[in-house]
Amino acid sequence: MSEAMVAQRVTVRVPGKLNLALSVGPLREDGYHDLATVFQAVSVYDRVAVESAPEWSVRTVGAYAPQVPESTDNLALRAAQLLAERASTLVGTEASCGPVALTIEKNIPVAAGMAGGSADAAAALVGCSEVWDLGVLRDDLESLAAELGADVPFLLHGGTALGSGRGDKISPVLSRGDLHWVLWVTAEQGLSTPQVYAECDRLRGDAQVPAPVVSEDLVSGLRTMEPDAVGAALHNDLQAAALSLRPELQEVLDSGLDLGARGALVSGSGPTVAFLVGSQAEALDLSMGLAARGPAGDILRVTGPVAGAGVISSRGPGPHLGTG
Ligand code: C5P
Repeated sequence: MSEAMVAQRVTVRVPGKLNLALSVGPLREDGYHDLATVFQAVSVYDRVAVESAPEWSVRTVGAYAPQVPESTDNLALRAAQLLAERASTLVGTEASCGPVALTIEKNIPVAAGMAGGSADAAAALVGCSEVWDLGVLRDDLESLAAELGADVPFLLHGGTALGSGRGDKISPVLSRGDLHWVLWVTAEQGLSTPQVYAECDRLRGDAQVPAPVVSEDLVSGLRTMEPDAVGAALHNDLQAAALSLRPELQEVLDSGLDLGARGALVSGSGPTVAFLVGSQAEALDLSMGLAARGPAGDILRVTGPVAGAGVISSRGPGPHLGTG
């Protein structure tokens, strides 16, 4: 992009994620756990607009905006400021990174085990590198992403991927076709991720915890995306902890399976429950069934895998540069 055409306002679309498998190793000295996980990016999206501005700011709008905690410590803003600090080192020449105003349209459920905050941070990295015309590749942003949070690198990439380390080391999983999901999102407050991990440790007590591993059954199920094979192999080591903190989730899981879901699990640290179904028609039937039975919650129909954070519109000071 030439200097005259540098974008001043960029909008990035970023998906939420599910964990199709989440195997949690022992607690590490740094407070994290080694994971073996399979992430899938699914079609519920936040939009993050990044605009050059006289000072740094962040504002949240959209369906789940009221549930975003009022805190100055917004991860997307932190992502923008971290990139500004490191940009010159990253590109190997003096980079000029003025303040930006971020507007986050929040459609990914909050504190729900879908990595919405991490998604916004990934989107801010992509949007700011465009606004500041840094010319960096997605891979260059990966180590900054991992510093911001364990799920942020995956949201840069999207698709279906194995996560190892803290979940921040990503390798893509090859698969063909789409999976259809119905998500149940609590109408109550969400769950805090550190609290759910702590509950998992508490429930394990002194038991010896093996190294985390993803089942071969899931990996082979994903090759064909056959819903019954994938459904039978879904597994989350944090589910017992989420159920211990929110026993009512058992009723949600049982209702969905009773209504014909091919598989069900709590997503990540919860409390969102993800039901795998075989088609769009099955998704519609299940969501109507769940809505009729309760317990109260939002019901979303999504598909995966979808791409990670990507620019959908870019506008310069002069004429419009793109559409979205
Ligand atoms: O990296 P992030 O800020 O998203 O992690 C939030 C919290 O979740 C961590 O502080 C830690 O308590 C827990 N966590 C963990 N092991 C992981 C990822 C997250 O214990 N691999």
